[in-house]
Amino acid sequence: MQVGARFDELREQALAELAACADERALEAWRAAWLGRQDGRITLLLRSVKDQPPDERPAFGKAANALRAELEDALEAKRQELKERALRELATLRALDVTLPGRRPTRGTLHPVTQTLRDCIRAFEAMGFRVFEGPEVEWAYYNFDAVRIPEDHPARDMWDTLWVDALVDGERKMLLRTHTSPNQIRVLERHAPPIRVIVPGKCYRQEATDATHEWMLTQIEGLAVDEGVRMSDLKGVLYDFARRVFGHDRRIIFHHSYFPFVEPGVEMAIDCFRCRGSGAECPTCHGSGWIEILGAGMVHPEIIANAGLDPSRYTGFAFGLGIERVAMLRWGIEDIRHFYQNDLRFLRQF
Ligand code: DAH
Repeated sequence: MQVGARFDELREQALAELAACADERALEAWRAAWLGRQDGRITLLLRSVKDQPPDERPAFGKAANALRAELEDALEAKRQELKERALRELATLRALDVTLPGRRPTRGTLHPVTQTLRDCIRAFEAMGFRVFEGPEVEWAYYNFDAVRIPEDHPARDMWDTLWVDALVDGERKMLLRTHTSPNQIRVLERHAPPIRVIVPGKCYRQEATDATHEWMLTQIEGLAVDEGVRMSDLKGVLYDFARRVFGHDRRIIFHHSYFPFVEPGVEMAIDCFRCRGSGAECPTCHGSGWIEILGAGMVHPEIIANAGLDPSRYTGFAFGLGIERVAMLRWGIEDIRHFYQNDLRFLRQF
């Protein structure tokens, strides 16, 4: 066989195998097989120069060297081609532009009612009140009877109630608590004076919602029972609370009011921190200069007695505060329904 023809065949085979290489690993295997120093096929070919008839050696050696050089160049070209293809694929498949600004993860915030609730809790804790919790699904006994709201009492209408359908002894006796006041009884059942507690939590009423009414609301109940607790203690605590939450120069005023579980009962108002009593069109106080913020009173002696305490020795005060109302006043929010519509345009403002 002619020398040149044999090399042509070799070259074709080598180049075909090289063309089939798809990655760096295949290239390396090809290189070892053809150009490897130990037993690459071209290396062996070069080594066989000495075995050729003397007159053919120069041509054989020259042709073999030329083939080696050609294959080395082809390898380099193929390596370059693979590298460029890999870069192109990276650019299209996993486009990564390091000059683009990063995307910030969205950070949540506490709901405005939660923020306000925590601020109120902190204010009372600073005055020595401890936090208790009670059930949202409550017995009618605690929600009504034990706080002196008997079966036919009109006050039961004031808190149109969401009843739980289950019957106990043939009667509906469970409900979603309409206020946190049942916890006055729960605390008195378990703890002895001196008592200073607040009970935060959600309450539920079957109400047509409007700008100031929601069927779910958040309250804080307060209760202090001890020897010699007086109305002035109630006023002092609530005054301090108003200043802590609404600003240090707040004034407060009490109006007589009726709640079955306190005697006397009051409603407390603070002077309008927006118009300071001067604005007839003030959206916060409607020109009155005062804003009602909570109900309170001296714990009814019957409730003290029902707890097994002597009402001539132990007295107490209680209060109930609506947190949504406090939040609305603080931030000038005109409609309570904003709180529970989960509209991020509203919630992001806090
Ligand atoms: N429970 C009453 C309500 O939901 C608020 C209240 C008024 C609570 C007077 C009290 C209180 O503890 O003394 O409207």
